[in-house]
Amino acid sequence: MEINNVKGTHDIFAGEASAYSQVEAMMKNIAELFAFMEVRPPVIEHSEVFVRGVGEGSDVVRKEMYTFLDKGNRSLTLRPEFTAGIIRLMVQNKLLVTNELPLKVYYCGPVFRYERPQLGRYRQFNQFGVEAVGNDSPFVDLEVILLAYTILDTLGLENVTIKINNLGDEESRLAYKEALREYFKGLLPKMCPDCQSRYELNPLRILDCKVPADHALVKSAPKLKDYLSEESKKRFATIIGYLDTLGVHYEIDDTLVRGLDYYSETVFEFHYVSAKGNDYGAVGGGGRYDKLVKEFGGPDMSGVGFSFGIERIISVLKDDGHIPADMPAFNLSFYVIPVGDKAHLTAHAVATNIRLLGYSSDVCFDDVKLTTMFKRAEKKGAKFAVIIGEDEMNNNKVIIKNLETKEQIEVAQEDFENKIIDLMSEHDHNCGCHEHAHDGDCDCGCHDHDKETKCCCSGDCDCEDGEECDCECHEEKK
Ligand code: HAM
Repeated sequence: MEINNVKGTHDIFAGEASAYSQVEAMMKNIAELFAFMEVRPPVIEHSEVFVRGVGEGSDVVRKEMYTFLDKGNRSLTLRPEFTAGIIRLMVQNKLLVTNELPLKVYYCGPVFRYERPQLGRYRQFNQFGVEAVGNDSPFVDLEVILLAYTILDTLGLENVTIKINNLGDEESRLAYKEALREYFKGLLPKMCPDCQSRYELNPLRILDCKVPADHALVKSAPKLKDYLSEESKKRFATIIGYLDTLGVHYEIDDTLVRGLDYYSETVFEFHYVSAKGNDYGAVGGGGRYDKLVKEFGGPDMSGVGFSFGIERIISVLKDDGHIPADMPAFNLSFYVIPVGDKAHLTAHAVATNIRLLGYSSDVCFDDVKLTTMFKRAEKKGAKFAVIIGEDEMNNNKVIIKNLETKEQIEVAQEDFENKIIDLMSEHDHNCGCHEHAHDGDCDCGCHDHDKETKCCCSGDCDCEDGEECDCECHEEKK
């Protein structure tokens, strides 16, 4: 009997796995540019971490957690999100006992929610996120939003809308919750069972109700903005002012309450509609939390963070054409082709040499026709093929074929390493426009002239003598 993957999970492999790695590496890299340090909390936590952290009133805790008893009868939960576990980690390891706050961390990995699977909604999915804890300056909120914005911008996602709202301080929220209880009290019998239990646990959650029949009642409910304290309004206005000054576009959405109970003050979400018009909803979201650190026995300090859903980001990147459908599984530089039985061992020695130089290489393991081997090389996206037959072995040489230009050269064994390095640096620097093939369809000017006057990444020409070369880069230099 065939055994398939668990409902709501998905297998990630080949080019898609490479896209995940590249996107995650890019996010980690940008987080480090913002001086956030990596943390890796465990996937399983005591259930209490999420019940107390995320809140009993949230759908995540009430319906979506993968909770089980281990062999020691402990209630454990597969993390449905990172933030609560990260705060547990910070408090337990006394990372917040320092004068240098906020403590800035980033994380990446799988999370688990027992939700109804649908497009962009899985039961196991991946998140990348950050938390900055221990400093309540509005500049920390700004930095976290800017970090998320920089990531989306670097990924080339142009149609992002940042939705932002103010949930107010504790005092504002208590007053608002009271007003909501008062308003919904008489309406409860007409509302869905979920809203009836939300009424007791956290009436703010009623505003998130997805049942169409409840929408009209929710629409006429009191508005949070009428219950905000002056201090909270001032704080929010400060953050909005910073975003305006820095030219970060946003939309104030006073219906945005977020699905997790720990939020206070500023909350935000990154929404995306692809160029084709497909609405992906929130690709990420976050906000400030005031009580979480104390909840875990830490000092009375607040934090702010966000998480991206990597699956949704990958879908958006595909839809917008940033990830090609035939994305190679990896960037193969050399495919080594042994021709004839006796060449196999030499082929492996040659491939090892190439790897030791820092370039990827793969060897054909089968004795198939030469044309089949070239087809395999191309299918793997190799840049060069190295061909070794009996003739080449007897004469201590190899043949290297450029699979893009089809140029073929013979290289003596003693020149092999230098040639490999030359070929690869020529390939990598040929035009600097690594996004496209070296077919001259870029306007950097370097395709017009010979290899000696090729242009490197910034449109800067690396030829020695500017006078003799008529490429545009020299004009720019002057
Ligand atoms: P969240 O909004 O629950 O926030 O999740 C963040 C992102 O994870 C969402 O915007 C979405 O892209 C993705 N996501 C959520 N559920 C699913 C699902 N079932 N399938 C696929 N993707 C999903 C949090 O998790 C907070 N911990 C964010 C945060 C960090 N707040 C403060 N710090």
